[in-house]
Amino acid sequence: MARPLLFSIPPEAAHRLAQGLLGLPLPWERLGGADRDPALRLSLAGIPLANPVGLAAGFDKTGRHVDALGRLGFGYVVCGTFTRRPRGGNPKPRIVRYPERASMVNAMGLPNPGARAASRALGRTAPRGPRVASIADQDVPDVLEAHAVLEPLVDAIELNASCPNVAWGRDRDNEAHLSNLLRELASRRARPLFVKLPPFRTAVERAVVLALAEIAREHGADALTISNTLPVRDARVSIGRGGLSGRELLDVTLACVHAVRVRWPVTSSVGRTLMVSRPDFCMNVFRNKTSQIRLVLPPPSKPFLCASSLHAH
Ligand SMILES: Cc1cc2nc3c(=O)[nH]c(=O)nc-3n(C[C@H](O)[C@H](O)[C@H](O)COP(=O)(O)O)c2cc1C
Repeated sequence: MARPLLFSIPPEAAHRLAQGLLGLPLPWERLGGADRDPALRLSLAGIPLANPVGLAAGFDKTGRHVDALGRLGFGYVVCGTFTRRPRGGNPKPRIVRYPERASMVNAMGLPNPGARAASRALGRTAPRGPRVASIADQDVPDVLEAHAVLEPLVDAIELNASCPNVAWGRDRDNEAHLSNLLRELASRRARPLFVKLPPFRTAVERAVVLALAEIAREHGADALTISNTLPVRDARVSIGRGGLSGRELLDVTLACVHAVRVRWPVTSSVGRTLMVSRPDFCMNVFRNKTSQIRLVLPPPSKPFLCASSLHAH
């Protein structure tokens, strides 16, 4: 019902409106109408989920709406991405819709209130469902601080190792950064850690993504989130480029999940998880008999599970 209204106004205004609505004390469980079928239950890195459909990072960039979103029916909600300090993000316009392609390009640049403000927002609501905080930053100490501030308030932390809309996500040696981060986090962390990867199109990009996945595995990450948006050029966003998401990314995402999966053969059966931006994408993936979303990687004692990362907009 809300879709035509939300699509009739500019994307960021629609996003603000949706967030405003989520702040209202409405019966979100009833409005969401999620199926509570026990057959949908599964475990993601030891976290019990009521269903495998999660909300990816980027919708709740403040941590203020995880409760309402969980009550809407998501199996888990990823909030953020949070940096140590508040960020304004890139200048507007920074989202362009492609309604005819069920896709969009965003160049948000990680606007967020900062890890401490997010921790206060998360601390105000008692967790009613699994929640994950996505974090990223330019320098390792800043990521470590965001991790220390947020980890006690969530079920897991997702390291966003793949944002195309910040300079550090594009220009630096991401493999070295991820290795350093995971090495530092190994002795500090108490809860599951996910690593969110970029998608790939070319053979060179593929090698980079597989190298990042290998680093995550070697350092004991509990799950991979595949994938972030695909870098593209678009003159309509302020910085002239952004990340593609939506229908046009879905096949790329599935190919990325498949590439990681074949590289590390399935060793035992654990769970599947899927984050979707639209119910029909979800059905497409579930109908797909190649089971790209069912991934379990060594070591067998530790479920290493890939989530097809999509989100709701
Ligand atoms: C407007 C917008 C903002 C996003 N912000 C974030 C973010 O802050 N952190 C992150 O890891 N991913 C972010 N994403 C990426 C999504 O979480 C998701 O990985 C990506 O959009 C691919 O899924 P989709 O094709 O279903 O949209 C954002 C996506 C969009 C469209």
